[in-house]
Amino acid sequence: MRRLLPDPGPTTVSEQLDAYRPWEEPREERPLVAMNFVATLDGRATIEGRSGPIGSDTDTAMLAGLRTRFDAVMIGAGTMRVERYSPLASKLVIISGRLDLPWDAPAFTEKGEVLIFTASETEPPETAASIEVVRHEGAVNLVEAMRHLRHERGVRALLCEGGPHIHEQMQADGLVDDLFLTIAPKLSGGEAPRILEGPLPDVVDLELAWLLEEDGELFARYHRS
Ligand SMILES: NC(=O)c1ccc[n+]([C@@H]2O[C@H](COP(=O)([O-])OP(=O)(O)OC[C@H]3O[C@@H](n4cnc5c(N)ncnc54)[C@H](OP(=O)(O)O)[C@@H]3O)[C@@H](O)[C@H]2O)c1
Repeated sequence: MRRLLPDPGPTTVSEQLDAYRPWEEPREERPLVAMNFVATLDGRATIEGRSGPIGSDTDTAMLAGLRTRFDAVMIGAGTMRVERYSPLASKLVIISGRLDLPWDAPAFTEKGEVLIFTASETEPPETAASIEVVRHEGAVNLVEAMRHLRHERGVRALLCEGGPHIHEQMQADGLVDDLFLTIAPKLSGGEAPRILEGPLPDVVDLELAWLLEEDGELFARYHRS
């Protein structure tokens, strides 16, 4: 892997991430929040409905490395339904309107910590994972959820792994500090979603903080201006 920006030269995933310490920069009312996505050159965030076929093994290593730098990982219910997460070393946070989740996924059937923000009044089933539920009226208020994570759960840094609809709301609410985007040298076409779906009230300007390359795959980190 080589670093193209800044300071061009050889690097590795772990060397690059060692210097990235998001837990040192929590905001007063929320954690530092980074989003992570992988996309094709034509901007698609899925191939045949899933993100897995887009990135390389190095992209998987980057995601695994990133997870070790954050206190918690957050996803929307749509991503949980499709990607069926396994338990994580850190807390898994899920945003769900209807609590219609794949309860047979390993993140629930195996031991682990799951925190669900939901607008539903139904109860989750008994699972091997320890599940806590925080209820909001109507829809989950993400600003309030971030405040809760920071002040009630001690989350200093949060990695949000999507999907595109959660991303739109997080950007619209000004809750995202960093965007990690892997751009795979592939074209896939079709009707697949982009990394952000839905209207944004304003254009969000980003600065390129670093750019890495391996085998034609680009690993960018953008920072909100
Ligand atoms: N390329 C990538 O890096 C990447 C990353 C992540 C996901 N993906 C792909 O994206 C697709 C999923 O997309 P998506 O946009 O549907 O996923 P999503 O953003 O993870 O989930 C959307 C769902 O989250 C819940 N939700 C969102 N905001 C809410 C709020 N304010 N209050 C309550 N609930 C809220 C709703 O769940 P309910 O239905 O429970 O109401 C909504 O249907 C999958 O195909 C996945 O593979 C790709």
